Order: sequence, then C-alpha cells, then structure tokens
Amino acid sequence: MSLPTVNTAEIERSRVEQAVAALGTTTGRKETGPAVVLRAPRVGDGAQLWRIAKDSAVLDTNSSYAYVLWCRDFAATSVVAEVRGRVVGFVIGYIRPQAPDTVFVWQIAVDRVQQGKGTGAQLLHALLDNVGAQGVSKLETTISPDNAASIALFGSVARRRAARITKHPLFDAGVFPDSHAPEDLYLIAPTARTTQEDHR
Ligand SMILES: CC(C)(COP(=O)(O)OP(=O)(O)OC[C@H]1O[C@@H](n2cnc3c(N)ncnc32)[C@H](O)[C@@H]1OP(=O)(O)O)[C@@H](O)C(=O)NCCC(=O)NCCS
Repeated sequence: MSLPTVNTAEIERSRVEQAVAALGTTTGRKETGPAVVLRAPRVGDGAQLWRIAKDSAVLDTNSSYAYVLWCRDFAATSVVAEVRGRVVGFVIGYIRPQAPDTVFVWQIAVDRVQQGKGTGAQLLHALLDNVGAQGVSKLETTISPDNAASIALFGSVARRRAARITKHPLFDAGVFPDSHAPEDLYLIAPTARTTQEDHR
C-alpha cells in the first residue's frame, strides 16, 4: 500500500496562515483605507517582493531569485501584506541556526503609498506571534544609522510588546566591499505578546 504524499511546505504555510488569521485581517489603530490581509508568502509573490525592495530605494535589492527562493523555503518566518489582492508589503526572516529562540528579520518594506498606516508594525507583530508559537522569544535585525523610519518602526513594536530594545554596532562599513553603510544590531526581547492591546 502506498502512503499518501505529504507536502510539508503546504503544511507550514497553512500553519502560518492560521496564526496570521488569528490576528484578524485588518490593520488596527491607523487603518485608513481598504482592508490589509496578512498571510504567508507564496512562490508567486517573489517578484512582488523584489519590486517592493527595489522601489524602496533604501533596501539592498537582492536578486529576484533570492526573493522567490525565500518565499519557498522561509515562508514560515515571513509574512506579506496584501491590499485588494496586491502584495504591498513584506517582512522576511529566519530562525538563527545558532540561536533557535531568535528570529532574524532580514528585510521589511512597505510600498510608499501604504506607509504610515500601521502596516509595517502589523507585519512584525504577525511574524512575532507566529514564531512565538515555535519558542522564539527574541528578535534581531540590523539597521543603518540613517534609517529613521526603520528605527522608529522597531522601537514602536518593542514598546507595544513591553520588550527591551538594545543596539550595538555589528557590521562596520569596512566589512563591505562597496559603499554600504554600517549596520547596527538591534535586539528586542522578550517578544511574547502580553495582551491584544499591544497591537494597537
Ligand atoms: C520602515 C517601513 C517598513 C515602515 O513601514 P510603515 O508601514 O510605514 O510603518 P508603520 O506605519 O507601521 O509605523 C510604525 C511606527 O514607525 C513610525 N514611523 C514609520 N515611518 C516613520 C518615519 N518615516 N519617521 C518616523 N517614524 C516613522 C510610526 O510613526 C510608527 O510609530 P508609532 O507606532 O509610535 O506611532 C517603511 O518606511 C519602508 O518600507 N521603508 C523603506 C524600506 C526600509 O527602510 N526597511 C527597513 C530596513 S531595516
């Protein structure tokens, strides 16, 4: 008798979507437009993630292949925001192999027209709620010193979760082969959500 085929990627994706769905599908306090749907990325979203990163003119634009691959292999630690069926923002991350209690946020970006409406924060809260169920209690990311919007975003998420946020220099400009700015390491912990109100 042959065993049924089990698609583990589909199971992971469905777990993410359930966790995200538990948050509700609309943004909170700052909602000013159409509903924002939060869900796990699919391979077909990779092109859109690449476009959003490129249009941001702030993020390093990785190859389109990197985003497509990410949507396949790291969907469980990534979230996209969709408005009227179009992906308008994303956060991509991974669990650090050396620190299984830590999610590293590699990139987060929101389309310019969607910025300032709470979508970036909603993406991070969704990610933290999802990985929290897998035992993750810390978030790491790196931010260049001139990125005020990103510093404000992570600071806001830390505050809403009543977590500590610390900053240390990580990558000096000298480690990069090009004109890349230095990157500071931000650590937010503990990331467990205390109440539903923390999302507002
Ligand atoms: C950073 C980014 C993702 C924020 O997304 P967003 O949807 O506009 O953020 P939100 O509306 O959820 O705002 C979250 C918090 O950050 C603050 N914030 C957002 N943009 C800000 C800005 N330009 N200046 C100051 N504060 C800002 C908001 O006031 C809010 O704080 P509050 O909750 O205390 O009021 C978005 O600006 C972006 O895509 N930037 C380009 C890419 C980038 O820099 N990514 C991060 C690289 S590490």
